[in-house]
Amino acid sequence: MTTAIIDPASADVDTGETLGAETGAGADAGVETGSPDFDPRELRDALGQFATGVVVITTVTPEGEFVGVTANSFTSVSLDPPLVLWCPGRHLRSLPHFERAERFAINVLASEQHELSRRFATPDGDKFSGVPVRVGLGGVPVLEGALATFECRTTALHEAGDHVIHLGHVERFRHDPAKPLVFHGGRYHEAARHDAG
Ligand SMILES: Cc1cc2nc3c(=O)[nH]c(=O)nc-3n(C[C@H](O)[C@H](O)[C@H](O)COP(=O)(O)O)c2cc1C
Repeated sequence: MTTAIIDPASADVDTGETLGAETGAGADAGVETGSPDFDPRELRDALGQFATGVVVITTVTPEGEFVGVTANSFTSVSLDPPLVLWCPGRHLRSLPHFERAERFAINVLASEQHELSRRFATPDGDKFSGVPVRVGLGGVPVLEGALATFECRTTALHEAGDHVIHLGHVERFRHDPAKPLVFHGGRYHEAARHDAG
């Protein structure tokens, strides 16, 4: 395991070592911290330790073209009012469509839908070819077989570095009991119930 550390006293950055109490680096000695500016790949690997589900975000252009992107940045934000968000990257070809979208849908993928995750994470090709969808609110496609779907109206777009925070108000949702697709450490996993409950 590689650890990126920053000495809070000197602000010198180093890698490959853990800042231990014996270094006498002050009150934070023994706490491992990383500098996001130092090694983006290390930061990405560390962030990848946070296990998530996988969603496909969908919308429709004014010309009626379906748009979809795989994402794991989906988060529930508020129950009252019902708000959710996801974070499209500035690099996405489909970003202009989401920035203009009045409505979008979040499709939470089931374990067996891993091929859909790969397909919607690949920029080229007709992502929707052969994919069973129904047309939801505002003409936005909703993927059949998803664990849960949240049909949303865009309420805000916030600049956030190399990503955008796309906030939506949930207008309609549904869910089914099934196994989720899990993403952790850059790989797909299946969820197993823990002994703890
Ligand atoms: C599991 C997984 C999660 C992803 N999460 C995001 C995300 O949250 N935001 C994002 O911008 N891209 C994310 N991506 C990458 C996009 O799906 C990928 O860049 C896609 O090709 C974008 O399509 P587009 O360029 O046609 O818009 C993720 C990819 C995978 C496989």
